Amino acid sequence: MSGELSPIDKAKFVAAKQSVEYVEDGMRVGLGTGSTAAWMVRCLGERVRDEGLKIRGVPTSSRTAALAREVGIEVISLDEAKWLDLTIDGADEFDADLSLIKGGGGALLQEKIVATASDRMVVITDAAKRVEHLGNFPLPVEVVPFGWRTTQALIEETLIQMDVLGRDSTLRMNGDVAFVTDEGNHILDLHLGRIGNPRQLAMVLNQMPGVVENGLFIDICDTVIIGHGDGRIEIRDINEGTAEEKRLDFVEDDNLFNDLND
Ligand code: 5RP
Repeated sequence: MSGELSPIDKAKFVAAKQSVEYVEDGMRVGLGTGSTAAWMVRCLGERVRDEGLKIRGVPTSSRTAALAREVGIEVISLDEAKWLDLTIDGADEFDADLSLIKGGGGALLQEKIVATASDRMVVITDAAKRVEHLGNFPLPVEVVPFGWRTTQALIEETLIQMDVLGRDSTLRMNGDVAFVTDEGNHILDLHLGRIGNPRQLAMVLNQMPGVVENGLFIDICDTVIIGHGDGRIEIRDINEGTAEEKRLDFVEDDNLFNDLND
């Protein structure tokens, strides 16, 4: 099976595999959303099954909840957990400060709530998502359906005063209809090109009526695990100021690689 994986998928897999080493018995763990996070959920399920690891997972989307249950992870709500030891999630972009753009999979609201309610957030990613300046990936902004066009116009007007290159935005679609998040909202993707001041932009966006949350994660991520297609892994921790590199031997495992459809 491993021979069929692209280098990007291998990179995502080795990052995910490394990340589950942070999970200890008894932990309450936030489970991210997306293809990299799906590898992580599968790797975690493997530890639950093979080692009898006892954890409770708080998923960040209905997709992740279904996968977690499928692989044998006990799923609880954030309200049941109240606070989490650790959240592991993917990202769409990250910079040297470990500021992130997230929400490519449309789950940014639950992802931000869950990550913020965690002692530690570990981001798993491939190297292509490392950027000098955030903003090449369109910034997802979750907006309430009521008056979304007005909210869009307000956002685009406000962007004139912000340190960004572009200010077009598009409503995220799911085929012919507007994409609807797990919370029943829509997503506007902002095509900014480059965000000069992510902290300021995040604050300004969240002050607008109609905006529920934006996909900028500032001062939330503690550790990033960057996978490479050849099995190399870089680990950067922003609090400890450490950077290490290791290699994970890529072992073919049909249980993990079968039926991955996220
Ligand atoms: C979902 C997210 C994902 O973590 C992000 O889009 C990365 O996805 P992938 O691991 O599939 O590249 O923020 O809302």
